[in-house]
Amino acid sequence: MDQELMKRIRELAKEKKAVILAHNYQLPEIQEIADLTGDSLALAIEASKTDAEMIVFCGVHFMGESSAIICPDKKTVLPVVEAGCAMADMLTAEELRQEKDSLPGVPVVTYVNSSAEVKAESDICCTSANAVQVVKSLEGDEVLMTPDRNLAMWVQRHTDKKVHYWPGYCPIHNNLTVETLKRAMKEHPHAVVMAHPECPPEVIDMADVVRSTSGMLAYAKESSEKEFIVATEVGLLYPLEKENPGKRFYPASPEMVCEDMKKTTLSDVLRALEEEGPVITVPEEIRVKALKALERMMAVPRD
Ligand code: 13P
Ligand code: SF4
Repeated sequence: MDQELMKRIRELAKEKKAVILAHNYQLPEIQEIADLTGDSLALAIEASKTDAEMIVFCGVHFMGESSAIICPDKKTVLPVVEAGCAMADMLTAEELRQEKDSLPGVPVVTYVNSSAEVKAESDICCTSANAVQVVKSLEGDEVLMTPDRNLAMWVQRHTDKKVHYWPGYCPIHNNLTVETLKRAMKEHPHAVVMAHPECPPEVIDMADVVRSTSGMLAYAKESSEKEFIVATEVGLLYPLEKENPGKRFYPASPEMVCEDMKKTTLSDVLRALEEEGPVITVPEEIRVKALKALERMMAVPRD
């Protein structure tokens, strides 16, 4: 890690009254210079509470957008504006409008891994940390979950409501097969299997615990077990190992790499602070509607 560059970034962040937020999948050096690391829900809540003048969001585009929706009076800067999310790209606002027409009156629950336009067409948002609570908080016997079918199928296991879903998915999690996970389990027979709900149902069936990224961090810390197989993006291994020196963590597959999450480097963060850009903005008409869905989500209590 380039300590000089990291020091310069911290100094400049202080000078500019900026807060640096980083998702749990970001490169280790980015997690190190961040004021706060976390899952999508923790970062959205932090963005809503911060008194910083600038939010430097080290993550992917939808995360920067959520921050811009929640804090329009602050500058949200995404160091690498091209860092996107393949799942978010699987549903457009027009497609969602058509889907809603086919399910009149059914509330729409949209995963935060979605565009601002899609959020604006939704009744409430959710993350992997609160999806079950969000669905249970709604009136009626049916919901439409978008854009992740795997998250929706996992929620279906925890509710009596009928969960309709859009067939989107995260390629990184969805590509994890039963065979690959079985191989990891054979290599580490005593390890607890932790899986992200973006994994396919047959992988979820094999998991001991299903959690968001921060949920996995909390579980590993509290658990008396010593070995864990981690079925999510490999970036989570860094904070897991850092926070639990006496425990061992093994990736379910070393191929679970989200290239978009790895695009942001220290040089990008420094440039973003110096130039105070690229700034993420959302058209006001869309922002106001998307904000309603995000605020409604943030009001749902966590377990
Ligand atoms: P969480 O960190 O909210 O569990 O989300 C995982 C993810 O895929 C973010 O893109
Ligand atoms: Fe999107 Fe999957 Fe990457 Fe998360 S890991 S940002 S869901 S492509």
